[in-house]
Amino acid sequence: MADIIVSNVKKSFDGREILHSLSFTVKSGEFLSVTGESGSGKSTLLGIMGGVMRPDEGSVRIGETEITALSEKELAKMRRTKIGYVYQFFNLIPTMTVWDNVFLPIRLDGKKTAAYEARAEELLSFMKLDAVKDSYPATLSGGEQQRVAVLRALLYSPEVIFLDEPTGNLDSENAKNVLELLAELNKKYGVTIVQVTHSEIGAGYGDRVITIKDGRIEKCL
Ligand SMILES: Nc1ncnc2c1ncn2[C@@H]1O[C@H](COP(=O)(O)OP(=O)(O)OP(=O)(O)O)[C@@H](O)[C@H]1O
Ligand SMILES: [Mg+2]
Repeated sequence: MADIIVSNVKKSFDGREILHSLSFTVKSGEFLSVTGESGSGKSTLLGIMGGVMRPDEGSVRIGETEITALSEKELAKMRRTKIGYVYQFFNLIPTMTVWDNVFLPIRLDGKKTAAYEARAEELLSFMKLDAVKDSYPATLSGGEQQRVAVLRALLYSPEVIFLDEPTGNLDSENAKNVLELLAELNKKYGVTIVQVTHSEIGAGYGDRVITIKDGRIEKCL
């Protein structure tokens, strides 16, 4: 199964070391929360684990695949088919409606969308997005955009989902909805979840919490 093994990962920006040789394992089917102060390196770590960014040294393995050794093309395919990623700042395509945004990973993978339409409707309704499904991202509130980004990562049934502050812009009720959906996916379908979160409620949903301080693991509970 798809354990995620992070080994001796280092990353610097502009000569400043941001991640100092981090190593840990996320078990297949685990729901892990990563917390820490602003600037501690959480998004950098998540980006490297999700194949969005490359480390300077060290490796990340997801199941059988060492993602840090893949070519750009192989990595793009892995990210389309196996990994769901929710960016801290959403990354929705502004010229596409909500509906088209959530189907983008499926279309990019050359699959027919029909098989996913019922599930998309169900998730849109669960996340209170029915009313905006034909709207463009710029006309949505921050919280709505965030829920669309989460939905897009969930729809194509990835084995692993990485989320950077998935509830950062949500009021407590919507945050709870998103977290419960993640917990359900995790329990029912065994999807491995790694979320970066500032909130205590958010961390409470995970099986385990890793706290990052200045690019090092401070606590692992
Ligand atoms: N592309 C980049 N170029 C230069 N510096 C960067 C880059 N990305 C991140 N950094 C720096 O690395 C450090 C860690 O950034 P990162 O985004 O990982 O923090 P974070 O823990 O996610 O913070 P926040 O909670 O505010 O999102 C910061 O000091 C940031 O300025
Ligand atoms: Mg961040």
